[in-house]
Amino acid sequence: MCIHETPASKLGIGRLFVVLLVCLSLNPASAGDALRLGEERIDDNEARIADELVKAIKEISLERHPQGPLLRFNQAKTLGCVSARFEVGDNIRPELRRGLFANPGTYPATIRFANASQFDDTKKDFRGMSIKLSGVAGDSLWGESGEMDFVLNSHPALFAADPQDFYDFVAATRKGRRWQYFLNPTHLYSLLIVLRGRQKISSPFDIAYYSTTPYRYGGDGTKAVKYAATPCSEFVGDAPRGADENYLTAAMQKHLDKGEACFDFRVQFQKDAQHMPIEDASVVWDESVSPFLKVARITVPKQSIQDPDARESCERMSFNPWRTLAAHQPLGGINRVRRTVYAEMAAFRAARNTSQ
Ligand code: HEM
Repeated sequence: MCIHETPASKLGIGRLFVVLLVCLSLNPASAGDALRLGEERIDDNEARIADELVKAIKEISLERHPQGPLLRFNQAKTLGCVSARFEVGDNIRPELRRGLFANPGTYPATIRFANASQFDDTKKDFRGMSIKLSGVAGDSLWGESGEMDFVLNSHPALFAADPQDFYDFVAATRKGRRWQYFLNPTHLYSLLIVLRGRQKISSPFDIAYYSTTPYRYGGDGTKAVKYAATPCSEFVGDAPRGADENYLTAAMQKHLDKGEACFDFRVQFQKDAQHMPIEDASVVWDESVSPFLKVARITVPKQSIQDPDARESCERMSFNPWRTLAAHQPLGGINRVRRTVYAEMAAFRAARNTSQ
């Protein structure tokens, strides 16, 4: 790491800060990479890290929720679950016609919006958008076929470059010393991402969401994309005034009372294996080099999101980026460990919550 190459004692505070920023802008996991487009590098330790992540996340979850429903480890506060339509149009470019997007079609969707870590909506946070399509033709890489999930976050970079960094974060969380993770000089890039990414918002319908991690896009194995869902509603929510801890659910309902909500679903192709790495989820792929291209439209019709049964079924749902077609196989270390972690944690939650 470049910060180790320059002794801090020889620098003034101002210069040290500049060196830190330069170091932060370098991506930690892709240094020395010589991967080709769409190519992955599997670390020998990944299976062990995935098992340790599951163990630690289960322990933390039990500590957080000794009784009652076991909530999700991340994105625990549901802001709203909505029924939607996911439409692949007949007007997308020929090179984008692959996998799910090969043919025009409309898929019924359920979308869960959530806060990443806060239960009070007035606090800055990342927000999540989990999309589940049904009626999808073809075999799923994980779980029963017919469904397909997209799991998105409100910032284009993940705060952890790779599985080891995510594990370090979880290990610090388990000790109740999360700050230790962020103040470790090798994790200062994470601090910067968290400082930039946590935001106050007017409504979950007003912001963009990103996969942060890459996915295959059919073809010969050289095509990798990141996903984004960007808002396209005719209006945005009012800026929150006197907002209370549940104002984001109220803002969604207010929007849907007035009219439907809309997102464009887009893909961004990897064009440079070094500067748009597969194995480092903390690097934002430059949109001036490769812009996001629209492949589908998500429409959320007017509806009530307050129905207790719908909210309950939303709590029971599980999303997994591996619930997808082979043409869209998740790529990179973060996605590889998520296969085990999401499967195990959804089963763990279900076992506890169905026995309540
Ligand atoms: C190694 C990296 C990661 C780990 C270990 C991890 C862990 C988890 C866990 C344990 C859950 C709860 C699952 C459940 O109980 O069903 C969760 C949920 C979630 N995560 Fe991650 N996560 C990782 C990376 C990401 C990334 C890259 C994104 C998106 C950009 C993301 C977005 C979400 C969202 C939106 C949910 C809520 C899913 C739902 O609605 O059920 N996570 N994550």
